[in-house]
Amino acid sequence: MELIHKIEGVRTLLDARRAQGQIIGLVPTMGALHAGHQSLIRAAADATDVVMTTIFVNPLQFSPDEDLDAYPRNLDRDCTLAEQSGADVVFAPSVAEMYPTPILTTVSPGGPLSTTLEAQTRPSHFDGVATVVAKLLNIAGRCQAFFGEKDYQQLQIVTRMVSDLDMPVDIVGCPTVREPDGLALSSRNGYLSPAERAAAPVLHRALSAGVQAITDGERDAATVRGIMEDLIAEEPLGSLDYAAVVNARTLEVPDPLAGELRLLTAVRFGSTRLLDNMAASVR
Ligand code: PAJ
Repeated sequence: MELIHKIEGVRTLLDARRAQGQIIGLVPTMGALHAGHQSLIRAAADATDVVMTTIFVNPLQFSPDEDLDAYPRNLDRDCTLAEQSGADVVFAPSVAEMYPTPILTTVSPGGPLSTTLEAQTRPSHFDGVATVVAKLLNIAGRCQAFFGEKDYQQLQIVTRMVSDLDMPVDIVGCPTVREPDGLALSSRNGYLSPAERAAAPVLHRALSAGVQAITDGERDAATVRGIMEDLIAEEPLGSLDYAAVVNARTLEVPDPLAGELRLLTAVRFGSTRLLDNMAASVR
């Protein structure tokens, strides 16, 4: 496996592979790789010829009060895990390589997709995500790019950006990898105290209860939201940020509930904020 730090190095390598007719698979990450990231790399290895994992903790998507400095970084370990999962290349640029001068041109997603849910507590987050993903896609060139459903709003925003801006990229969404007790794997789970870790599966329980209510015939979004909120309120260590049931593409709240839906929640445990989501459908 090759470790590349420079944009020009990536371009040269991937252009040569494309010229041989190979399909490129891209897996953007911020490192601190776990089995969730590894499942994306495996999916890319199954579907494409050359897999490039990117490891870059993107300052643009962190607000000043977030964990940019504390974010876990361990390139050696990440390279080992990436290689074991089927990566051919790891692209790990420095901040100076990605942002050599202060960036003046950014990508700013619009509409309800980028103003609801996560954006309510993290107003500039998706501008930072869309901008760095656009840069990574431009560096990689024509490819299939793999993103986790774990960050569902991010997946929808990136899918829409690629379509709106005619980027030569197929976005592939991959299912969330969970611990046996339902907790979605996340680099931030490591911040939880043992008591918070024991409480954290409440997100999965709340989402499962919401999905069950819809399966049982509930069609009122506020009622489903209330079921999730009540379950989370029973957990004293957790503090609800939001629980919602929305249209799976637009992220708007349908009334009555119909079609492809997504239930999403964010809950704080001390200073750690956890996200999760699940699909439901009404046919
Ligand atoms: P990061 O949080 O490192 O996640 C990288 C990719 O792994 C994302 O597509 C995310 O949805 C996916 N992922 C995380 N946990 C997962 C799980 N439990 N199961 C399946 N997939 C999971 O998301 C980012 O980085 C950044 O915002 C990035 C897109 C790299 C832009 O900086």
